[in-house]
Amino acid sequence: ASALRPIGTLTGRHILVTSGPTHEPIDPVRYLANRSSGRQGHAIAASLSRLGARVTLVSGPVALEDPAGIATIHVETAREMRDAVRNALPADAAVFCAAVADWHAETALQKIKKNGAAPNLQLVENPDILREVSRLDEQRPRLVIGFAAETENLIENARRKRARKGCDWIVANLVGTASDVMGGMENEVTLVTENDIEPWPRAGKSAIAEHLAARIAEALA
Ligand code: CTP
Ligand code: CA
Repeated sequence: ASALRPIGTLTGRHILVTSGPTHEPIDPVRYLANRSSGRQGHAIAASLSRLGARVTLVSGPVALEDPAGIATIHVETAREMRDAVRNALPADAAVFCAAVADWHAETALQKIKKNGAAPNLQLVENPDILREVSRLDEQRPRLVIGFAAETENLIENARRKRARKGCDWIVANLVGTASDVMGGMENEVTLVTENDIEPWPRAGKSAIAEHLAARIAEALA
């Protein structure tokens, strides 16, 4: 079949994308979260789908519509995201755009009341989904892409992160007070591969998504 596949497209490929934040409940009415809007991950899913891929989008809680024609699985916590990702494999490529919460708390069964001392949240580390998938034996996607949101030392941190996770590419971006990237409409990223550091011009999140999808198509061709 591969001889019949139009060059540069993703027809016949299955690609997994994670997007959005995760919410980690503290009690029935409160949670830990982060500022991710899901816009970048959802745009990447849409771009991959336009190139012909069958896309599975695993999304944390976002205020976005499910992208048309894309199987979207809704999850809340990092642990649910991990299970949904593992169930969606095998895939030819996986793009981990979600801003997964690093920790979860032991969830109180009743609303924590404000009487006396502030509660002491005992945080426990969440599964590292990107790292787990990057280190799979048989089910490892051929191309595994992570994102790295850093507030300082962008390239150095991204290179270390790439090595630590075992993924193929890292899309690195600076976040924090000096930028309006997280939750915003634009993004400014640097693609870190095994042998290259490629700064991309600042652009709308859908333009970044188009470019990344094209690069993925090229890599899988
Ligand atoms: N990621 C993941 N599962 C986690 C944490 C992160 O799959 N539990 C993925 C993210 O989707 C992203 C990449 O790992 O693609 C890097 O996330 P980041 O938060 O930058 O890395 P961490 O290893 O959590 O390091 P830190 O937050 O300490 O910088
Ligand atoms: Ca993290």
